[in-house]
Amino acid sequence: MPKRIVSVVGARPQFVKAAVVSAALQDVGHEEVMVHTGQHYDYNMSEVFFEALNIPKPRHSLGIGGGNHGEMTGRQLMAIEQCLLTEKPDLVLVYGDTNSTLAGALAAVKLHIPVAHVEAGLRSFNMRMPEEVNRILTDRISQWLFTPSSVASGHLRAEGIAGERIIEVGDVMHDAVLRFSRSNVELPVAPPKRFGLVTIHRAENTDDDARLGAIVEGLCQVAGSLPLIMPIHPRTRQRLERLGWLERLTQAVQMLEPVGYMEMLALQKSAQAVITDSGGIQKEAFFLQVPCITLRDETEWVETVELGWNRLVSDLSVSSIEAAVLGASRPAKSQAQPYGDGRAAARIAAMLG
Ligand code: UD1
Repeated sequence: MPKRIVSVVGARPQFVKAAVVSAALQDVGHEEVMVHTGQHYDYNMSEVFFEALNIPKPRHSLGIGGGNHGEMTGRQLMAIEQCLLTEKPDLVLVYGDTNSTLAGALAAVKLHIPVAHVEAGLRSFNMRMPEEVNRILTDRISQWLFTPSSVASGHLRAEGIAGERIIEVGDVMHDAVLRFSRSNVELPVAPPKRFGLVTIHRAENTDDDARLGAIVEGLCQVAGSLPLIMPIHPRTRQRLERLGWLERLTQAVQMLEPVGYMEMLALQKSAQAVITDSGGIQKEAFFLQVPCITLRDETEWVETVELGWNRLVSDLSVSSIEAAVLGASRPAKSQAQPYGDGRAAARIAAMLG
């Protein structure tokens, strides 16, 4: 039976996931009301995705971004509760692991509205990451746990979550890459023949001066052998500016403003290697068959490492970054599809009916 669904989104990766899930919900006749918390608010971090990916316009735009984590999550919780009291949905849909995810899930359960969590079961086992706390708490209070992989389902079972709540549908980001990577888009730069594509935004890297310093120096060193292009996240720009390092990096690396989703896929497809600390980009590189170097101690997407497409650089230093990037190569072809078949969104829409 078609349902009335409130979807809560707020940060860039959620817009991409919502694009494919919203379309699938519409296909089976669900009624969806979009709530945008405002966690990401710059035009090129938010609106551009709604326009290019044809995501339903938010009925409620809460305008709550910035501030400390507790403040942001708390203010979002209060505002989402009001939306839910007005909209009276049958269920609330949340995505991923951001503060907006937790605020949406918590507001719903307190009103006894069931929650569906898309991208459930991911774990880094690093409780210092705000995302890990958000994931664990959201999974604990959700009724439908839509997991992207068997590893994610296994984590939930290991935490004692009842099997009937765990629904392995595959990864909606696989759906998104299949749907959007074929589009012809104009790139914001004419990339050189060989280049590495860089994105950095995780708090564990941006908010730790020693790690950020090693990344800046490592990238400057790599850029001597392999040109680098870096669409820069607002968090990273702010930190680099404050530390006085932005200019040095800008001299070595071609910086761009944040780019749209299709532009990002096109850049990844033509890159020699991707260097990132993003969760989503590790998988996009995998789907697009580009070697990825992840500047983190651990990853939730362990399958990409096991299959040889992703390499973690945990002991961050100039030499470890340089060795990983310049040594990146494609592994032998494999037919493995750990993240499903690209039809995750349709399964989610069907399960919610
Ligand atoms: C958030 C998520 C992270 C996700 C990432 C994707 C949490 C805890 N983290 O981190 O899981 O991978 O989004 O990008 O929810 N800012 C702007 N303009 C914007 C958006 C943010 O200037 O459009 C500024 C904010 O004011 C803040 C900083 O960037 O100072 C970081 O924003 P924050 O909301 O913490 O998000 P992310 O670091 O992007």
